[in-house]
Amino acid sequence: MNQDAHEMPGGTGDGPRIARTKPFYAELEKGKRYLWCACGRSQDQPYCDGSHRGTGFAPVAYVAREDGEEVLFCGCKRTAGPPFCDGAHNNLRETYDEDDPRSAENAAIPVVAADGGGKARLDGGCFVFTLPRGKLLARGALKYCPVIGRADGALHQSQFYLEAGPGESPVLGFGASHVILFVAQGSGEGHDERECEVSISGRRFAAAPLSGLHVRPGEAFQLLNSSATTLKVFAAVCPQADGPTWHDAMPDNFDADYPDRAVPMDPGARRSMADRFFQMLVDKRIGSDVAAQFIGEIPVSKAAPHRHLYEESLVVIRGAGFMWTPTGKAPVKAGDVIFLPRKQIHSLECTGPGGMMLMGVIYPGDNPSINY
Ligand code: FES
Repeated sequence: MNQDAHEMPGGTGDGPRIARTKPFYAELEKGKRYLWCACGRSQDQPYCDGSHRGTGFAPVAYVAREDGEEVLFCGCKRTAGPPFCDGAHNNLRETYDEDDPRSAENAAIPVVAADGGGKARLDGGCFVFTLPRGKLLARGALKYCPVIGRADGALHQSQFYLEAGPGESPVLGFGASHVILFVAQGSGEGHDERECEVSISGRRFAAAPLSGLHVRPGEAFQLLNSSATTLKVFAAVCPQADGPTWHDAMPDNFDADYPDRAVPMDPGARRSMADRFFQMLVDKRIGSDVAAQFIGEIPVSKAAPHRHLYEESLVVIRGAGFMWTPTGKAPVKAGDVIFLPRKQIHSLECTGPGGMMLMGVIYPGDNPSINY
């Protein structure tokens, strides 16, 4: 039963009602037909109870594809992809749903310190990782370390940190997985962007700072650095792999069906989500249809606790704050990596006056604004 259905603020009474400003999580039965309420008037949300009669709205049917299929039915009735949530509820208010970090309940949540491996472990496998300076593995001009993997409880993605000094790194790949690269540091501003490049199966792309690059399944890549700076890259691997495969030579198998592989940060391409901003980098527009990468900015705030149906890795680019789960919180700062398992309730707080900039990779999924 829904007790909070109400008219859209300022609405005429003719539009769909907001049943709830969050989606409804449901686990479905294979072959069963579900009728999603589009009008928002049903007392049996998110399903139709016939209350739409005379309103001009009609329910939307969905037949479950498998037993236990997990879905998020739209609650605000403003999705562009009915019957499922597309994140539209985030834009119904001027500010993102927030929580008071100084509330009595939150004040009782302790700070969790990092273990000897640099990981502060929170609830359900969530952790904050500080890169271990001086503990990187070395191979030729490349230094690297695993960041997120199966040993941490990750089920879907893994992540590696790569650092290339001057010269050419060894050629590496991750088998049949998609690899989504993020350039945390490349050629400095005012320098020739070709000073730092990534070769993907023989095709060269600029490794501009804060850009994303997509290596398709089966391809290999190499970091090329002719600058005076160190090229620093995070590699998210989807589905996860335990480690890179090293190649003696660059394979000649660039998938020319997908020629666009590099997406630079572009403030003009930012989308707003309440008082937050994000820009999609690698996503389905360039052929990454199972995983997506974004870069975003959040203001000083603590998000209301929420969950996602995808696994997520976040790299803090600028700013500081805390990652919260129900029984612990860990400090985060620029350079740290956060791992979020599917369905883990969490909340990120930004405490620095300049806000926080983050890069995230979600997998499996394509829309980072869907939360519940
Ligand atoms: S009751 Fe809302 S669509 Fe039927």
